[in-house]
Amino acid sequence: MFRPRPDAPAATVEVEVDGRTVRVPEGASAAAAVLLAGLASLRDTPVTGSARAPYCMMGVCFECLAEIDGVPNRQSCMIAALPGMRIRRQRGARDIDPEDVPDTIPSFPIPAPRSGGA
Ligand code: FES
Repeated sequence: MFRPRPDAPAATVEVEVDGRTVRVPEGASAAAAVLLAGLASLRDTPVTGSARAPYCMMGVCFECLAEIDGVPNRQSCMIAALPGMRIRRQRGARDIDPEDVPDTIPSFPIPAPRSGGA
């Protein structure tokens, strides 16, 4: 389904996805780690319990909500996979405890605009 770009970094990081150890390219998202782990779904909806998985991979659809390092309701496509990160499936609705929300949330660096072009 997904192939790495030919210029993808060779370095990898190891994360845990629902108890499985997965190696992902450095800079990949937590949602990419879920897909590389081969999970068919990442969460169940609170109303019907239907299975959901990362879809847009750009922070729009919220289908990728997961528990990451013990914090529920995180958009896994918007969070970089870090060494030792623990990503878990989310079943139904989760409460958000303000004490669980980290002060800083790792995010992707914003690439510099390319020079030239059209
Ligand atoms: S996959 Fe759509 S918001 Fe994360």
